[in-house]
Amino acid sequence: MEMKKERGRVLIVDDDPLMRGLLSDMLYNVGSYKTDVAVDGFDGIGKIKNNEYDIVFADMSMPRLNGMDFLKEIKKINSSMPVVIITGISSVDMAVNAMKEGAQDFITKPFRIDTVISIADRITGERKLLNLNKIAVKDDYEASVGKLKAELSKKLQEIGIFQSISTELDGLCDNKEIFESIVAMASKLFAVKEASFGAIENGHLKIKGTIGTMAKDISIANSIFENVIKKKTFCLASLGEISPHNGSLLTSPFLSVPLTINNEVFGILNLSNKADGTTFTDDEIRLALTFAEKAAMRIENNALYEVFYANLMNTLKSLVISIEARDPYTKHHSERVSLYSLQIADVMNLGAEDKDAIRFGGYLHDIGKIGVRDTVLVKPGMLTPEETTEIRLHPVIGYNILEPLKFFPDEMDIVRYHHEKFDGSGYPDGLAGDDIPLIARIAAVADTYDAMTSSRPYRNSIGHDIAIKELKTGSSSQFEGEIVLAFLQTPVGKGEERLLL
Ligand SMILES: [Fe+2]
Repeated sequence: MEMKKERGRVLIVDDDPLMRGLLSDMLYNVGSYKTDVAVDGFDGIGKIKNNEYDIVFADMSMPRLNGMDFLKEIKKINSSMPVVIITGISSVDMAVNAMKEGAQDFITKPFRIDTVISIADRITGERKLLNLNKIAVKDDYEASVGKLKAELSKKLQEIGIFQSISTELDGLCDNKEIFESIVAMASKLFAVKEASFGAIENGHLKIKGTIGTMAKDISIANSIFENVIKKKTFCLASLGEISPHNGSLLTSPFLSVPLTINNEVFGILNLSNKADGTTFTDDEIRLALTFAEKAAMRIENNALYEVFYANLMNTLKSLVISIEARDPYTKHHSERVSLYSLQIADVMNLGAEDKDAIRFGGYLHDIGKIGVRDTVLVKPGMLTPEETTEIRLHPVIGYNILEPLKFFPDEMDIVRYHHEKFDGSGYPDGLAGDDIPLIARIAAVADTYDAMTSSRPYRNSIGHDIAIKELKTGSSSQFEGEIVLAFLQTPVGKGEERLLL
């Protein structure tokens, strides 16, 4: 039997036997590499100490010693050992970190045979080049090193781009912002004069963000978009083909790349009219696909987050409704506290973030009453000292309901501190003055006004005028004077409206 020419020795480190076997078969049978396998990081370290390898392929997530720590250990033993990291599709960030730690390259699962082989070939080729001794013709050697350096700087540039894409997209939470930002980043990244992002809706591409002149709504049928959606990959239309935008002939190449969620195309990123007038290179197309993948992930996360957030808000709202249903006299109290607090916030010119916290936090302020017994909550007469203690637990109970959700940090302030008093005589923490969060100080005024102007089983509403007098009396002791003054300027405080919900 003829011996195969051996192109290099490869060590594959993966705790998954299937993946190990697959990679080993690919590299041995297709790539003509001699392969060795290790079942985890510790096993891998032992093999590296006792054998010579040209490349190590290492899985990122392994028990005992994970890929990143394994990589660091290898670099301690042999800093020039090329390591290729294998990651799941979703951990491009981790791959970037691995590259910073000295990994030579990374492949994402599932991987293609030709990708694996070409990476291995490139790395062994580079190693041979770097091992050239001084006998090599000087010019050739310098040219080779120059080429390597150029490759390296291109790779680093791409990594930099990936990182800025991630950071920039992660900072955005509004879909409209994300769409616009995707287009702006793409136009910068690919130096194009025209870029657009469109979402697929009812057979049309509805443009959500654009740079340059683009139609707003394009029929997908018989356009290149139809191909992108069907084939789920990019489509490059050349000069002279029909422009999907206006039906005229294209005067510059037009690149469309799909954005997918669960393998379904939901949007298309279009790039055209490169500033230097050239067409898109293979490298740029590859980068555009990665960019689109990253952007799609961000949009998917956002969609999931929005659905989750909306569900959570609905659950909390139904909790509030169930508390109010137990005590018919407090019907719509939560809603009114939220609205009165917002009116105060308006007079005080608070920002949008504070107002959002006030809107929902005001609504949730008594959510802890879910933990107070009915006999205490709806008792018609005076409360005993024990019952008072029980009802005074509600701010902390409410806080404990919201705390683990991690979604409502500011709203939690209203829930916990709306019974604190400005002079420090309130509960549960006895905070005073500015130590009580501003939005909670505001809610305290709104809450007290609404309590005084609502009828209870054991007493009737004291009426607007007396309630205002009481608030003024409590200025600077129970309430912050400035907030009471602000309340007096609101429609409700002026007695112009009483929200009868
Ligand atoms: Fe309360």
